[in-house]
Amino acid sequence: MITFQNLVAGYGRAGDILRGVDFSAAESAITCIVGPNGAGKSTVLKACSGLLQPRGGQVMLGDEDIGGRSPAQILRRGVVQVPQHNGLFPSLTVRENVMLGAYVNRRERERNRRRYTEIAELYPLIAERADDKAASLSGGQRRTVEFARALMLTPRVVLLDEPTLGLDPKASKQLADSITTLKQEGVTVLMVEQNVRFGLTLADHAVVMEGGRVLHTGSAGALLADPDMGRLFFGAAPPQETS
Ligand SMILES: Nc1ncnc2c1ncn2[C@@H]1O[C@H](COP(=O)(O)OP(=O)(O)O)[C@@H](O)[C@H]1O
Ligand SMILES: [Mg+2]
Repeated sequence: MITFQNLVAGYGRAGDILRGVDFSAAESAITCIVGPNGAGKSTVLKACSGLLQPRGGQVMLGDEDIGGRSPAQILRRGVVQVPQHNGLFPSLTVRENVMLGAYVNRRERERNRRRYTEIAELYPLIAERADDKAASLSGGQRRTVEFARALMLTPRVVLLDEPTLGLDPKASKQLADSITTLKQEGVTVLMVEQNVRFGLTLADHAVVMEGGRVLHTGSAGALLADPDMGRLFFGAAPPQETS
């Protein structure tokens, strides 16, 4: 479990962007942060992966405060941010791209081979296309390979910043399946999603942020069903249901 306690963070000499953020991302569950542009959602993920040093508060991974540790130290503790867009080497095969996920542990060959076999069982695409160049894959398939690569280190926590950006509906569906697979592997998923309906449909828990603060935490399904949600995210009038 990841718990943010009174997290304060910002950039350079500018004022604080996160002004006391408190919430938890539960173990083996999907938590989705939603909120308007500039709310500080990506900043929370950066403070969690070590790209940004917190100015105050804690980022608790279990009972250890990882706030302020380097990205490499945080990665070693099993917190992995899946890079979005062009994260693959097009001229390498699917298998080679996935295996690169274990680069920091490359000497543990036997362990990595075993892990690769498990992942190829988890994501049939990896087994089917193992010897094909990444360049030959569709956008949605590439995203699946990025997930598989992130899993090579057996992460405890996966961070995703707007994973559906630029994906068509079919690829988004594949992505949803990949994220659900992570959860079934016992991974704690903390994601930010600008497609609020997609994010809340997939997630177990929701966090609503605005102006560097948490406005609401609760069940994602309950938030999705809340008539106030329309006002919150889509302006004064709730969206028309089309059938
Ligand atoms: N590298 C940066 N340097 C300075 N300000 C930044 C930087 N990144 C983001 N910000 C500012 O921090 C605020 C929150 O940004 P961000 O966390 O990216 O919001 P969100 O992901 O919710 O859209 C915004 O006002 C943004 O302009
Ligand atoms: Mg963002």
